[in-house]
Amino acid sequence: MDKFQIVGGKALSGEVVISGAKNAALPILLGTMLTSEDVVLSNVPQLRDVQTCFKLLTMMGKSYECIGENTYKISGKVTSNVAPYDLVKTMRASILALGPLTAFMGSAEVSLPGGCAIGARPVDLHVKGLKEMGAEFVLEDGYIRSSTESIGGRLHGGYIVMDKISVTGTENLMMAAALAEGTTIIENAAREPEIVDLAVFLRSMGANIVGDGSDKITIVGVDKLHGCSHSIVADRIETGTYLIAAMASHGQVVCRNALPETLDPVLAKLRKANATIEVDGTSIYLDMRDREILPVDIITAPHPGFPTDMQAQFMVLNALASGSSTVTETIFENRFMHVPELIRMGAHLSIQGNTVLCSGVEHLKGAQVMATDLRASASLVIAGLVAEGTTVVDRIYHMDRGYEHIERKIRSLGGTIERISA
Ligand code: UD1
Repeated sequence: MDKFQIVGGKALSGEVVISGAKNAALPILLGTMLTSEDVVLSNVPQLRDVQTCFKLLTMMGKSYECIGENTYKISGKVTSNVAPYDLVKTMRASILALGPLTAFMGSAEVSLPGGCAIGARPVDLHVKGLKEMGAEFVLEDGYIRSSTESIGGRLHGGYIVMDKISVTGTENLMMAAALAEGTTIIENAAREPEIVDLAVFLRSMGANIVGDGSDKITIVGVDKLHGCSHSIVADRIETGTYLIAAMASHGQVVCRNALPETLDPVLAKLRKANATIEVDGTSIYLDMRDREILPVDIITAPHPGFPTDMQAQFMVLNALASGSSTVTETIFENRFMHVPELIRMGAHLSIQGNTVLCSGVEHLKGAQVMATDLRASASLVIAGLVAEGTTVVDRIYHMDRGYEHIERKIRSLGGTIERISA
């Protein structure tokens, strides 16, 4: 298993070009199953999860071709409705095959997902929504099997109230509803920028969707979707990760090709933590030279609240701040696995239920640490970059799921990071 060896202590400084968003690329790639015509996607990040999506698409009868830098043409018709365990276990987002397959093929067999070990992460909301649209389900042999046979092979519109806000749940239902007969209304829908990007993509395929970005999305189903071209939105979590890395190291950074408005809740907290931040079009400038890090309380919440995907990284800032703060996680019940690792690096953190009490220290110290999920890995890499001495981060395959060219980008900012292949 690959590891990162990081020598800390340098202030990160320079420019980093932000990649396309993993969490937009995954639903959009699987959404190509809704048409048999060619789809051209640009700004697709080169990530392990994206490769998994391509494997899934191939297994289902589609083909893909790289036609330029980060640009792919996806062609062909879906001929299989099975998303097998071997692929799904490596990427929880494979559940996003359920909506498009049920809509396009009339049935689906999707293995129950694996992915990040950050809690139970059920998929009941996905299933409940599709049931409202007429699908029937059985759970057998670890597979969710959907069928529309009893309603003539095509989903119908439904009025769906999500009991809890779910990002991929909303996405699955939007994709299914795009080809359903009649109108679907999703209440208490997720409002994440990646939902909006998926809606933009589906509209360019001919879907009739309004309300994306609000908590009520209305979709009038169409008989057929056609091919299109689409560029994946910038990755706000990658952007936030580099901003925090520069900040924790008292450096300065310019993030290019970003979408600043998707980061408002994060930028507000970074400013409170004492960073100077300027936004100019698609660029974000952050300067933290000669400034102390101020402690800031964080409570994660669905968009437009503070993203749970930035919680682990922000904790490194609080671990180095000039005072005490709290970090409260409200989305996932087991998302503090970076905390014991940060404590091994000298952080003063204490878990009290779903809150971590942070008491800032002046320095972290290099150590051997273990990455346990994607964003926890990012926090350990940031901690390693600012710690005294050498840090070895094990199990970085988590990191490869979500950060494009991570070593190259960190090195371009002056950080010392090496991949050690076992
Ligand atoms: C997505 C993101 C992930 C992010 C998360 C929250 C993708 C590919 N992943 O994950 O990076 O951390 O949103 O912003 O976009 N829940 C249920 N039943 C369900 C579905 C969800 O109870 O059927 C619960 C979850 O356990 C969790 C909460 O709802 O407590 C939110 O999860 P959800 O928004 O669905 O997360 P994902 O879509 O899996």
